[in-house]
Amino acid sequence: MLEVKSLERSYEEVKALKGVSFKVENGIIFGLLGPNGAGKTTTFKIVSTLLNPDNGEVFWEGKNIFENKKWWKKKMGYVPQELAIYNELTGLENCILMAELYGLSGSDAKKKSVYLLERIGLKDKVNHKVKTYSGGMKRRLNLIMGLIHNPEVILLDEPTAGIDVQTKVKIYDFIKDLVKEGKTILYTTHMLKEAEELFDIVGIIDNGVLKAIGSVDKLIEEYAPSVLLELRLKNMEKHIDFLSSLGEFNGETGFLKLNVPSQSDIAGIIEKLNSKGIIIENMVIKGASLETVFLNLTGRELRD
Ligand SMILES: Nc1ncnc2c1ncn2[C@@H]1O[C@H](COP(=O)(O)OP(=O)(O)OP(=O)(O)O)[C@@H](O)[C@H]1O
Ligand SMILES: [Mg+2]
Repeated sequence: MLEVKSLERSYEEVKALKGVSFKVENGIIFGLLGPNGAGKTTTFKIVSTLLNPDNGEVFWEGKNIFENKKWWKKKMGYVPQELAIYNELTGLENCILMAELYGLSGSDAKKKSVYLLERIGLKDKVNHKVKTYSGGMKRRLNLIMGLIHNPEVILLDEPTAGIDVQTKVKIYDFIKDLVKEGKTILYTTHMLKEAEELFDIVGIIDNGVLKAIGSVDKLIEEYAPSVLLELRLKNMEKHIDFLSSLGEFNGETGFLKLNVPSQSDIAGIIEKLNSKGIIIENMVIKGASLETVFLNLTGRELRD
């Protein structure tokens, strides 16, 4: 388990982290979701020991990472938000350089590099200079550079920034495979969809404060339980009074709009309608989303 305890960090007068704490179980994807300037990168720089906190501690498997930096650097792989690759070298040369920094021998370094380049879909580009890569290819290379020493814990700081949808899906699949292999992933994003798609546990961070932690479902249940249902009904002529008692009902169009306290109440509504022989032609569920959670917790919207 990774334990992050009461991290505080200022840059001169800017208080970037105001006491951030969280725990990450092994073998899951934990993600920090928050807008620009929330403190995501600062948190990751501290956990990767690139930056010292003003206060607070970090433990992996009960061991203090700042007191065991050498040990931790072997266990942990950090993929920075800013690309950290050499444009004048090929993809393979970049990887081998990194592998050798981690002490892999020549042939091991090459084997591991080729393996990861192929897995991330850069097989055809292995021997091309990075300056000829597209933005998405550079991002993918940047990603595997942090994995070359086979770390147990992987920190990915916005690894899909500026990437098209298809390539994103490939990266998600790659990351999900890493989790299946037992890796523990920490990830940052400001994209709600990404958090919903990928994170087992989400930490919502804003202004240096971690506002809430939990699975997407749990967060919705706790912070945005109310759901808006929009139904188009048929076969409802005999039940106008009943339907009007449920919510806003239009007898001519068969359109029913109602608020239910939580997502788990939807099944009960459907059952009631079914039992009266009312047919549901169409149903839209609105409100039960991470977007509403974010709005309720921070008082503002998070635009993708
Ligand atoms: N080197 C620095 N010097 C001064 N202020 C900094 C520095 N790095 C970060 N900050 C400030 O600290 C706060 C947190 O920044 P951080 O980079 O951790 O946010 P972030 O959540 O990663 O944002 P983004 O989504 O834009 O990457 C911001 O107010 C930022 O301006
Ligand atoms: Mg950042």
